[in-house]
Amino acid sequence: MNVYMDHASTTPVDPRVVEKMMPYFMEKYGNPSSSLYEIGREARKAVEESRVKVASAINAAPGEIIFTSGGTEGDNLAIKGTALLDKDKKHIIISSIEHFSVLSTCDWLKKQGFEVTKVPVDRYGVVDLSELENAIRKDTALISVMHANNEIGTIEPIEEIGRIASDNGIIFHTNACQTAGRVPIDVRKMDIDLMTLSSHKIYGPKGAGAIFVRKGTRLEPLFHGGGHERKLRSGTENVPGIVGFGEALDLACREMRKEGERLTRLRDRLIRGILKIERSWLNGHPEKRLPNNAHFCFKFIEGESMILELDFNGISGGTGSACSSPTLEPSHVLSAIGLPKEDVHGSLRLTLGKQNTKEEVDYVIEVLPKIIERLRNISPFKEDFGEYESALAHEHKH
Ligand SMILES: Cc1ncc(COP(=O)(O)O)c(C=O)c1O
Repeated sequence: MNVYMDHASTTPVDPRVVEKMMPYFMEKYGNPSSSLYEIGREARKAVEESRVKVASAINAAPGEIIFTSGGTEGDNLAIKGTALLDKDKKHIIISSIEHFSVLSTCDWLKKQGFEVTKVPVDRYGVVDLSELENAIRKDTALISVMHANNEIGTIEPIEEIGRIASDNGIIFHTNACQTAGRVPIDVRKMDIDLMTLSSHKIYGPKGAGAIFVRKGTRLEPLFHGGGHERKLRSGTENVPGIVGFGEALDLACREMRKEGERLTRLRDRLIRGILKIERSWLNGHPEKRLPNNAHFCFKFIEGESMILELDFNGISGGTGSACSSPTLEPSHVLSAIGLPKEDVHGSLRLTLGKQNTKEEVDYVIEVLPKIIERLRNISPFKEDFGEYESALAHEHKH
């Protein structure tokens, strides 16, 4: 059986999306800026129709959508574009569990003289709101907190953070790469000024995405050139990608409720089955989590070997961080929720998607315990089992 359960990493493109994109490669290949002839106008129309779809998915106006090459570019544009506006505002607040596209952008800004405060999260990965408020300074240019975490799936209290930011007159950015099309988003209700979206997480093509820029919010562009996308992102538009992204987001929003309920049921079945494994636990918030995310730790297990063994059995899962981290450093997210180093390595992220079935979930529940048992039998930490068991027994007695 071949089971793909790494949908937080990427998703296959929906055939309906491919169908919409196809004409824009070879027939309707015009440049949207070439409005003097028909195929140019046709391409422009397609881009603007997609803009309307993206805007209505998040309760924005079409003029507030800027197409980008995806989540990484969107985060760079939103954060650097805000930070570079005002030389007197040199402070940025983020959470300690942001994606590398936010963390590395902030690391770069630090080298340019900015100060970055990382607000801690609780053991479920929820941002501490009072710490966030305390971190605010006169020179704070931006608060950036992700909508949902890509590793452990925790959904952050975005509406409250939006309110704190707006009460203090600070620009609020949220990275919604894991949530747009998966959970409802209303940029007005949530007081969001800037928001990053990515297409390939929701059955759209790779290399496409957008940022929402609230009307009146200024940004310094990163790409200079022909002044495309309201002068915020120069470069001839990726027309097939934009068309595909708009269609994918539109479909995801229309199917969100039904698919979300189905995924939640599958996710909970997966969680119940896997937690039967001894010395395992679920990371992330038990309720406030993405409908498709299940993230576990297994004591005395080395994550990479577990994933290779799963692959050998036809199952694609992830650790949740290796895809974006070139190092084998323990995940900053798992460290931030308070897991000790030795536990962080035994982690597994399974993220469900459209094709996954109950039978596939049951297959994983059948295969994984055997893998864990085999790996534990050859684990160099085997001697520690006894100590761990007696500590547990001690804990239960008291
Ligand atoms: C939370 C989050 N932000 C940003 C990105 C980057 O998006 P993209 O691959 O479109 O650049 C990802 C994807 O890995 C993500 O999960």
